[in-house]
Amino acid sequence: MLMIGHRGAMGCAPENTLLSIHKAIELGADWVEIDVHCVADKLLVIHDETVDRTTNGRGKLIDYSFEELRALDAGLGQRIPTLQEVLEVTVGKVGLNIELKGLGTGKVLTSLLRNTPETYKNKMLVSSFLMPELEQVVRLNQHVKIGVLAGNNINESIAWATKLKAFSIHLRLQKVTPKWIDRAHDLGLKVYVYTVNKVVQIRRMKELGVDGVFSDYPNRLTS
Ligand code: G3P
Ligand code: MG
Repeated sequence: MLMIGHRGAMGCAPENTLLSIHKAIELGADWVEIDVHCVADKLLVIHDETVDRTTNGRGKLIDYSFEELRALDAGLGQRIPTLQEVLEVTVGKVGLNIELKGLGTGKVLTSLLRNTPETYKNKMLVSSFLMPELEQVVRLNQHVKIGVLAGNNINESIAWATKLKAFSIHLRLQKVTPKWIDRAHDLGLKVYVYTVNKVVQIRRMKELGVDGVFSDYPNRLTS
């Protein structure tokens, strides 16, 4: 079962920062997950549409310029990273799951992928709750794995995963059942589960045959 560091290793360092990604690698994560929003045609690594919770700034991303956002402190003196910076620190070291959070992210990501070596795309997975953004990536780039993030309506997400020829479906921990796992596996989909932090839950997911878990503590997968 793959261990995917959630927002880097957000239980151990400020989420979605380079420090958090380095921490996840140090703790032995197989993959790291990060969230991206589109600002001035560039992808910035941040979870929310506002900067309030994770930086020393106030207000919405769209009310800032790219340079103003980069001047904020995202915790322990870290800047909000660009996706390009994250690619540079993860390449050859750990798989990268890019979660598309905002409108327009699919299109901008596709441009960036044009300059990304094919070999690294094997260790890349693009996921989202936003099906139009995933559709955009699928339409414009055939060489990257797609993951459908499921909320409460898993039937609908499975239908989307089939339509998009996705690699994986990502289920909420609270929604995981053997029935859903079997159904997804029968369709050839990997099953990744978010967000699994307690050791007992991680063990349970492994017993159920889940293919990977997202965890804020990527060192908690014991044998
Ligand atoms: O990709 C799994 C998980 O990150 C989805 O939820 O809100 O933490 O981005 P969220
Ligand atoms: Mg996420």
